[in-house]
Amino acid sequence: MQILKKIESNRIQKAISLAFAFLISLSALAQNEIKLTNLQCEMLTNPLGIDVVQPRLSWQLDTGASQVEQMAYHILVASSPEKLTNNEGDLWDSGKVNSDASVNVVYTGKTLDSKDEAYWKVKVWTNKGVSNWSETALWSMGILTYAEWKSTRWIGYNQLFPGDSVSQFAKLSARYVRKPINLKSKVKNAKVYIMGMGLYEFYINGEKIGDQVLAPVPTDYTQNVKYNVFDVTSQLQEGDNVLGTILGNGRFFAMRQEYKPYKIKSFGFPKMALQLDVEYEDGSKETIKTDESWKFTPYGPIRSNNEYDGEVYDARKEIPNWNKVGFDDSDWLNMTWVQEPGGFFEAQMTPNMKIMDAVKPVSISATNRGTYILDMGQNMVGWLQIKVKGNRGDKITMKFAESLQDDGSLYIANLRDARTTDEYILKGDGEEVWEPTFVFHGFRFVELTGFKSKPSLDQFLGKVVYDNMETTGTFECSNETMNQIFKNAFWGISGNYKGMPIDCPQRNERQPWLGDRTTGAYGESFIFDNQTLYAKWLDDIKYSQTLDGGIPDVAPAFWRYYGDGVTWQGAYMKVADMLYTQFGDEKVIKDHYPYMKKWLLYMEANYLKDDLMTKDKYGDWCVPPESLEIIRSSDPTRLTDGELLSSAFYYHLLQIMKKFAKIEGNSDADIPYYDALAERIKKVFNAKYFNRENYSYANNTVTANVLPLAFNMVPDNLQQKVFENMVHQIEVVKEGHISTGVVGTQFLMRTLTNFGRGDLAFKLASNKTYPSWGYMVENGATTIWELWNGNTADPKMNSQNHVMLLGDLMIWYYENMAGIKSNPEKPGFKEIIMKPDFKAGLSYVNASYKSIHGEIKSHWKLNRNKLYWELTVPVNTSAKVYIPTTDASKVNLDGKELNSKVYKTENNYVVLTLESGTYTISAKL
Ligand code: BGC
Repeated sequence: MQILKKIESNRIQKAISLAFAFLISLSALAQNEIKLTNLQCEMLTNPLGIDVVQPRLSWQLDTGASQVEQMAYHILVASSPEKLTNNEGDLWDSGKVNSDASVNVVYTGKTLDSKDEAYWKVKVWTNKGVSNWSETALWSMGILTYAEWKSTRWIGYNQLFPGDSVSQFAKLSARYVRKPINLKSKVKNAKVYIMGMGLYEFYINGEKIGDQVLAPVPTDYTQNVKYNVFDVTSQLQEGDNVLGTILGNGRFFAMRQEYKPYKIKSFGFPKMALQLDVEYEDGSKETIKTDESWKFTPYGPIRSNNEYDGEVYDARKEIPNWNKVGFDDSDWLNMTWVQEPGGFFEAQMTPNMKIMDAVKPVSISATNRGTYILDMGQNMVGWLQIKVKGNRGDKITMKFAESLQDDGSLYIANLRDARTTDEYILKGDGEEVWEPTFVFHGFRFVELTGFKSKPSLDQFLGKVVYDNMETTGTFECSNETMNQIFKNAFWGISGNYKGMPIDCPQRNERQPWLGDRTTGAYGESFIFDNQTLYAKWLDDIKYSQTLDGGIPDVAPAFWRYYGDGVTWQGAYMKVADMLYTQFGDEKVIKDHYPYMKKWLLYMEANYLKDDLMTKDKYGDWCVPPESLEIIRSSDPTRLTDGELLSSAFYYHLLQIMKKFAKIEGNSDADIPYYDALAERIKKVFNAKYFNRENYSYANNTVTANVLPLAFNMVPDNLQQKVFENMVHQIEVVKEGHISTGVVGTQFLMRTLTNFGRGDLAFKLASNKTYPSWGYMVENGATTIWELWNGNTADPKMNSQNHVMLLGDLMIWYYENMAGIKSNPEKPGFKEIIMKPDFKAGLSYVNASYKSIHGEIKSHWKLNRNKLYWELTVPVNTSAKVYIPTTDASKVNLDGKELNSKVYKTENNYVVLTLESGTYTISAKL
């Protein structure tokens, strides 16, 4: 019996362990399964209404296995989900394509027509197995030709109503537009294509469509007008329905009217055009379009909406159910057929803004004027939601500012003539909750007027508004000042995304200045998925080009400045280069190359004299000035010669254009031309500015030296000498402080590090004394200032939320401190260069970046020369990992000592090539 029992129990044990082993292998299988995620079309997830006829498709591979490379892909695109399920790629069957490309794969299937739908999926083969088909993704086409819009009327009403004003402080009430429609039967599929200028909110049967705010993205409406597309199948019903739109002003009916009209562009009264496409269950179709039967009233609650001055909302004028069936609109006016804005109609290929976050105020205090000051604790961009109770006609006023004066009142001098005031007039109906619709503010403090007693903090909520883009990067390190600078940069960058990158969100400016983002865009791309925003901005720049080739300082050119500089205009090429390096976007280069070249030739023809570029407009904008109260320095030892800046920058742009010419396929003709021109410039530049006695350029500012160093213009073998001279300027003359402005700061941190003085770059990054980013932090900044001396300077030009002084700081955080850099030869992080400067001064960095191929991580610690580094390389990419030692046997990879016979050193580094996976490295440095 006993024996039997034993055998039995042995059997059971065996069975259990077998089952266990089986489960383990199953779970290993599951872990190592290749999953396909993040399917995107033109960098957007399931976009509706695109107008790219050969869109690019991307996906990511996800697996627990390491060292995984894609060997081939197969894409199926079908006209219906059913066909796709049956593996019938009636639009495109790529077949099995041997390729490692998993991003930006160009659709080469059947030509798609307007409004067509395309369902797609992908499958891949890797060196570690085959994936299943991905989930289904989709895109739909927009309206591809002007002809298809022709019978859709633009409707508006070119007239003022009581309370409106065309003046410096423009006022115009929002227009509430409605159209009852009748649908003959059940709806199978419905999409709306809407152009609502300047801003719109769209409703069906009282329900707001979409979660976007302040839509659409702004453009120069005389050049291009963006339409948005929504699937509205579930909002429509058989029988009666009502379409409702509120039209706001945005940049269309500009904030300043009949005030400096030579400079400020305005486009007229708000207007709209819309197509609603309905497909019924019986297969029949109908299109509803805007025409003069649509009705509107200008007497709704939004009495005024002006991006600079604020919104006035009179809740007594609310019109209950105005956008629902059954409302009597007999006393509403008919819209009129008005002229088109003038620009070509285009699909909006970048997301709208959205409420991205919320901020709870931290304190509220009474003033001796009977008002209250609310502190949000953070300089933020968006608006304030209020909850109030009171009598009908009571008025609450909210005035927004970034900081307080010594006496505790709002500091508003730096807002110039922007009134930044919202007003809410109560209807007297219990608790009333309100937030504005068509304005935003840049603020930390709000002065509240109209409260009879002290309100409580929970009556207020800050709504943070910027373009709906993913946060892709995190960064944390051992230095608290640097961490706070990162947070400030995060708030500053995101807050200034407003469908275009603007300079500041608070004063009467808010313009997309090119020079502010020339290099900034690159640093920002490590923190936000800003690819589509910047691709849109390149179009804005292209559309603002003059026929002879000039491009403006601000694009879209809402302010008409064609200063013909190089450092601001150079953003056109620099941002394209960023999109290529960071996102592998070749298309922007191909699309814009002719316009960039035209601009280069235009500058050469008009301003190149004796091989130097003679035109510059802003100099090295915003250098730390000689006295703390002033904005602009006039001290010749601080300023860098404009011709030097332009010539060096132009030389740099020619190098970028050589690279673009190769991508564009025009290299034979263009590269020799750029080369010859660049050589001539370099020769004259060095002859004129280079001082061989003290190895300095011009008047020996840091900017004058850093540009030729960064652009590789310094005569051979003298780089090190010039670098040492520059270091002397920083370390000794400037006592370890920044002395550069917007131009020099773009190259400072990386140049210091590349030439071996990462420690000095670290000193600049972690400084707390003036001038430095840390000085801003020490003085309470929660964003980045426009001026190094932002706390003391004249308010005339002193925004507390500008990002241009970041220069290349964020790039340096990621590339040089975290060691996350895209190899420009294998862009889009197909190959990652991981080469942190471990000895710069930090003891640890913990950073991550969601690249288009997947998430990269770098977490290192240095403890008394002992390095511990954990890093993640995404699937289908590889990394070149640099460890600063000449002896590979001092390096452990995943616990195993490296064989110094196998691992050779390069310039004092052990260089490992790692395929995808997570690794730990330890080493003695
Ligand atoms: C803007 C800057 C801009 C500069 C150009 C300022 O008013 O705010 O960001 O680049 O003008 O001069």
